[in-house]
Amino acid sequence: MTSPESPDLSRRGFLAKLGLLFNVGVVATLSAPILAYVLSPASRKSNAGYESWVPLGSLDHFPSGQTRFATYRNPVVHPWDGETADIPCWVRNVDGKKFQVFAINCMHLGCPVRWFPQSNLFMCPCHGGAYYKDGSRAAGPPERGLFEYPNKIEGGTLLIHAGEMPTPVSRACNKSELVVIDS
Ligand code: FES
Repeated sequence: MTSPESPDLSRRGFLAKLGLLFNVGVVATLSAPILAYVLSPASRKSNAGYESWVPLGSLDHFPSGQTRFATYRNPVVHPWDGETADIPCWVRNVDGKKFQVFAINCMHLGCPVRWFPQSNLFMCPCHGGAYYKDGSRAAGPPERGLFEYPNKIEGGTLLIHAGEMPTPVSRACNKSELVVIDS
């Protein structure tokens, strides 16, 4: 029989503690990213940036009946984002009172679509996707219209609700109601 103070037992105890410490370290290391993933929606919801309205510019920049290119600053910007936080979009002034703002990304695989006023179409250079001027799908592989940002007018400035990323699952695309300016 081995006494409690025997070298055998103390070595066994040391190895047991070392093993326990190792297991705790492994569990902590593995659970950190999982916890971060699980908690990220909560932290995102608490971030006011996702709920903010972002200015696109004065209404003067968007002539009636035309579609213009614009950029806005991502409301959830990090110091290291640099110019990548400047997000492009297309602004359509329908009739001087109603506006539509589209994400630039094609709803097929995300290539940047371009506006062609000659044909009144948004065209995607990657696989030939096409969209009508109101953002609805016209032809090609995309299954839905362009992502449309909710927008509003305040003090002569056009603002969009830009916290949500323009992905197919984020919101029904091209379904938001047009904004009418009170005259
Ligand atoms: S990414 Fe636009 S059609 Fe494929």
